[in-house]
Amino acid sequence: MINPVYSPAPDRYESGIRYRRCGRSGILLPEIALGLWHNFGDVNPFANSLEMAHYAFDHGIVHFDLANNYGPSYGSAEETFGQIMRKSFAPFRDELFISSKAGYDMWPGPYGEWGSRKYLMASLDQSLKRMDLDYVDLFYSHRFDPNTPLEETMQALVDIVRAGKALYAGISNYPTEAAAFAYKYLRERDVPCLIYQGRYNLLNREPEENGILDQAKEAGVGFIAFSPLAQGLLTGRYLDGIPADSRMAKEKFLKSSALTPRMHAALTALNEVAARRGQSLAEMALAWCLKDDRVTSVIVGASRVSQLEDDFKALENTSFTPEELAEIDAIVLSAKA
Ligand SMILES: NC(=O)c1ccc[n+]([C@@H]2O[C@H](COP(=O)([O-])OP(=O)(O)OC[C@H]3O[C@@H](n4cnc5c(N)ncnc54)[C@H](OP(=O)(O)O)[C@@H]3O)[C@@H](O)[C@H]2O)c1
Repeated sequence: MINPVYSPAPDRYESGIRYRRCGRSGILLPEIALGLWHNFGDVNPFANSLEMAHYAFDHGIVHFDLANNYGPSYGSAEETFGQIMRKSFAPFRDELFISSKAGYDMWPGPYGEWGSRKYLMASLDQSLKRMDLDYVDLFYSHRFDPNTPLEETMQALVDIVRAGKALYAGISNYPTEAAAFAYKYLRERDVPCLIYQGRYNLLNREPEENGILDQAKEAGVGFIAFSPLAQGLLTGRYLDGIPADSRMAKEKFLKSSALTPRMHAALTALNEVAARRGQSLAEMALAWCLKDDRVTSVIVGASRVSQLEDDFKALENTSFTPEELAEIDAIVLSAKA
């Protein structure tokens, strides 16, 4: 059979997607972005990855988040995305907002991780080749490196943007003090930090507690939440055991030890709150992140299109009553007690 040429849904910007301004910048990001950390590697069927990418773009989810070592194997999520570009998305490059990162382990030896100029520059060049792109829209320093002068890492970001290899710079997983330095350094060189990427979900409130959310807002920097579903814990996936095809069953990034009896009881109780709101647990968890105007967007992962369909429905109701919020907080507290 001849492969049909992809043509995106003509109503992709009217299907319920909304966009939020990213800090003090010209960029609007979709409230939901698609992350390619899992399920886009060379171990995954390409047809499924392609179908999810199509679903996203067909619904106005124009932001795709990658990193050098997403896969497995390392680099293969970017290669898969490169294939998707060639096959489907190339004519629509200017409608897309594509990010990549460097910071974690990527290749052996002293120059394959952390925050040196040598690593960041080489890594981005490799990422561009894998994705078949001339530039990424956003390039992140993926983590703070305590042993490299922060000036060096930040100057590498400045030079990457000035060289046109990325349009914007961002940081991820930085402690508050280092983030303050980064924002100042970048602003003074006219390459203001576009966005901070941090883990944030109903169970993990760290960016509230350590001031990262307030700090970003004050600095005019956007905030994008990763693992908003706590890697799948905050969905219906584990209410009745651990499915064989789930991330938890792999025991790598999400361990079954997270599913304590207390956690299971809390997830069941949260699922009931969600049901009263007319939402699935996943929908409510995403809505919970998006209720806060300090949050620009959430990056979800998915292993199949049906999950994305569910996640997308979160946008139908992102407001909560004070009673609902108090009930959610009490349940979360009980999971940790
Ligand atoms: N900056 C960083 O350091 C960093 C770190 C981590 C992630 N990220 C970014 O954030 C993205 C998202 O992270 P994540 O994958 O951990 O996000 P997540 O959205 O918290 O979890 C995604 C997983 O939840 C499950 N899921 C999603 N929707 C579901 C639904 N409606 N019903 C049931 N299960 C559902 C799927 O698990 P199954 O696979 O079990 O089906 C899916 O793989 C990554 O792809 C990456 O781009 C960045």
